[in-house]
Amino acid sequence: NIIPPSKGELACSDEGVGRLKEPDEIFDYVNDYIQSSKEYKGIRFLVTAGPTREYIDPVRYITNRSSGKMGLSLANVIKRKGGTVSLVTGSIDCKDIHYDRIFNVETADEMLNLLKKEVKESDILIMAAAVADFKPKEISERKIKKGKSFLLELVENPDILKELSKEKDESQVFVGFAAESDDLIENAKKKIGEKNLDMIVLNDISRSDIGFDSNYNEVTLIYKNGRMKRVPKATKEKIAEEIISKAVEIYKSING
Ligand code: CTP
Repeated sequence: NIIPPSKGELACSDEGVGRLKEPDEIFDYVNDYIQSSKEYKGIRFLVTAGPTREYIDPVRYITNRSSGKMGLSLANVIKRKGGTVSLVTGSIDCKDIHYDRIFNVETADEMLNLLKKEVKESDILIMAAAVADFKPKEISERKIKKGKSFLLELVENPDILKELSKEKDESQVFVGFAAESDDLIENAKKKIGEKNLDMIVLNDISRSDIGFDSNYNEVTLIYKNGRMKRVPKATKEKIAEEIISKAVEIYKSING
């Protein structure tokens, strides 16, 4: 955050923008910043980010395309505004990340087991992780040697949001993401019902200028009652601010 300079007389008798602000103006600015940074104090967020990995053998796995940037931006915004964050990450680089609680998992099953416990201590769940829908039916304990082709049989992973929604408390808010390339709105709305969500963040994955690996995104927020809000193209941090602010609005409307 940078406090902009004031306009007025400058050192070389010029007029213009470039004066240091008066101390009382600086005080007000800092005070406003500190107040706004406590906006989410007392709200416990559980955020997931990044892809899961499903092992084929000790050296190979299948995974989903995801940098985890959206999930990390969400966690940053919450932290900056004074909320408590538990961050559950799939396989992303977390060495410079410091949150209240951070858990690294690899597989969808591990993520589900962890979230089952963590969600009980959370007010708002934001499920930005790219969970692999399939896993190999069998994991080979030894490295599979090359030299001949083979068929890999996949079975379905649990749907984590569906599982968690079975025990969802009325006071809790669940936000999911929808990665769609066809019939975007129809498919996203279907997921709200199936996964018992309060809001879904719709991503159009057919666009190459946003989303995957990019620092930018453009999304549509769809509420349980069908209302929609388009969030125009912006940095993932800005999009995260909008998502969190709407999730908190829902949380406050439920809990008074
Ligand atoms: N999700 C989940 N468990 C899964 C797969 C996805 O909890 N096994 C969550 C994602 O984190 C996301 C939402 O469900 O918040 C929707 O994910 P998405 O990949 O868009 O849809 P799927 O439910 O996987 O359905 P499909 O792949 O058929 O579109």
